[in-house]
Amino acid sequence: MNTHLASYYLQRIGFPVRNRRLLLFDLPLPTAPRSAADGDWQVRQLSSDDIRRLDYPGGWLTRDVAFDRAKSRRCTVVGAVRGSTLGAYCWVEADYADLAFFDLRVQLGPGTWYLSHVYTSPEHRGTGIGRAVVGVAGELAMAQQCRRLVAVCDPNNTPVIRLFTSLGWHAGDSMHYLRVGPVARTVRRTTATGRRTVYWGGAKLEQEFFEARQIL
Ligand SMILES: CC(C)(COP(=O)(O)OP(=O)(O)OC[C@H]1O[C@@H](n2cnc3c(N)ncnc32)[C@H](O)[C@@H]1OP(=O)(O)O)[C@@H](O)C(=O)NCCC(=O)NCCS
Repeated sequence: MNTHLASYYLQRIGFPVRNRRLLLFDLPLPTAPRSAADGDWQVRQLSSDDIRRLDYPGGWLTRDVAFDRAKSRRCTVVGAVRGSTLGAYCWVEADYADLAFFDLRVQLGPGTWYLSHVYTSPEHRGTGIGRAVVGVAGELAMAQQCRRLVAVCDPNNTPVIRLFTSLGWHAGDSMHYLRVGPVARTVRRTTATGRRTVYWGGAKLEQEFFEARQIL
């Protein structure tokens, strides 16, 4: 039986499965100089009104969720805009990070901000606007109280890994998180030493683990 089928049947009998791998990225500020996007894209911070007004590309967040988030003082959204088109966006979060991959909210240490939800609409990929929004987000963060920017991604996501490394981000530890019903296991691999650390527990324990360690 393949993994997807096993997950499906476990879910059907009341044991939901979460199986996620993550690679942690770290950008010690100040940032590397950003590269400009091709064409006449304007890369800038967006307001909630921009999100309501522009042609929104979909992606990680629905327009309604993006609109609400953009009103929060904790979140900054940067977009690449051309005419009425929003071609790419990314978010920077302070205070805590919503780690969608793990269904967890993680407290951030002082001065640490979290870059998330990088997205370029498919028809504009490969033109430099993804890198441009991430670069500008780093500059905006640095101009405020951010001293260190962090991000996570799927270890198989080659485009975003290359994008981050091209801007001077460092790949750090990797994590594997598996939860079946109430039982969860998190394995963290420290890249520098190759050491594997295994944590067992339920959802509450994981939350405590992530908060106590300030994994980000
Ligand atoms: C990842 C993503 C944001 C890249 O956006 P983009 O606007 O196409 O990227 P850019 O054109 O700015 O490219 C910047 C660099 O990223 C890397 N890159 C982008 N697309 C790539 C691809 N398909 N394969 C390999 N590397 C790629 C390259 O290093 C590129 O620099 P180069 O062209 O000088 O070599 C886009 O592919 C996307 O939206 N993917 C789906 C959402 C996603 O996975 N987001 C990441 C969540 S963590």
